[in-house]
Amino acid sequence: MADLDGNKIEHNYHLEKAFACNGNFHVKGAANLDWGMKKHLSNIFSPKTGNTVMFAFDHGYFMGSVSGLERLDLLMPGLIDHIDVLMATRGALRTCVKPNFRKGVALRVSSGSSMIQEDLSEEVIAVDVEDAIRLGADALAVQVFIGAKGQLASIDNLSKVINAAYRYSIPVLGVVAVGKDMERTDKYFKLATRIIAELGANIVKTYYCDKFDEVVAACPVPIVMAGGKKLPEKEALELAFNAIAGGARGVDMGRNIFQTAHPAAMADAIGKIVHRKYTAKEAYEYYCEAIK
Ligand code: 5RP
Repeated sequence: MADLDGNKIEHNYHLEKAFACNGNFHVKGAANLDWGMKKHLSNIFSPKTGNTVMFAFDHGYFMGSVSGLERLDLLMPGLIDHIDVLMATRGALRTCVKPNFRKGVALRVSSGSSMIQEDLSEEVIAVDVEDAIRLGADALAVQVFIGAKGQLASIDNLSKVINAAYRYSIPVLGVVAVGKDMERTDKYFKLATRIIAELGANIVKTYYCDKFDEVVAACPVPIVMAGGKKLPEKEALELAFNAIAGGARGVDMGRNIFQTAHPAAMADAIGKIVHRKYTAKEAYEYYCEAIK
């Protein structure tokens, strides 16, 4: 381990230069992976646009029946055709999602906290790789708590899942946690996203921040932006636009889709930004037209 004394503080992220090690595959950092990994990643990131719209509804693993997800069985049929990937728990998939959809699956495999406790940073690996294979998962999602009490355990969880997933050519999605004591700054997100990528994750999910383009440039695998708390639709679409403009290869939004009055229209509007280069204004106009 390098010593931390007197580290040079200036950085150059070469923002004007594209990632140089992509070969001819459309997912950042995956050029040297095998066929199976690339197939799973292609189920997540469109080969046409390189991007993805993930619908996150794994909140129940620690929030229970959060507003908007009270009845997944009623929500999913009208939404599934409007998103690319399901970010879900195995319980939600098996009970409330028909298996005849043809979408990517990002399976939540870490767990261990509940929203009634103070510290949410201690999780375990809750799903083994065999059950992920049974579910046909295209990525295994693990929460990582950099800078929190649960840091070591979450890094151990991530590493164990990566070790197991690589045996079966399944990508791993490292999820940057932002507990209430964690700062949502580019300094924190650069550290957290890079640690997750260096540990071998194939996708990193994090929140938007200032200098987001630098966070993206310094991360050698694709970044997908987590939506965060519910915003007015116009602001949520601006957030999605800023993330894509900053180099995110997609969004993983939950509350800003399932807590709107029109989830399908919102997912479509997000998809226009992610896959069709719409501006936030154009996407909001599309949304307003779609809900008339
Ligand atoms: C919940 C999660 C969600 O997948 C992630 O936060 C995205 O959902 P939202 O857009 O509602 O934040 O990790 O535990």
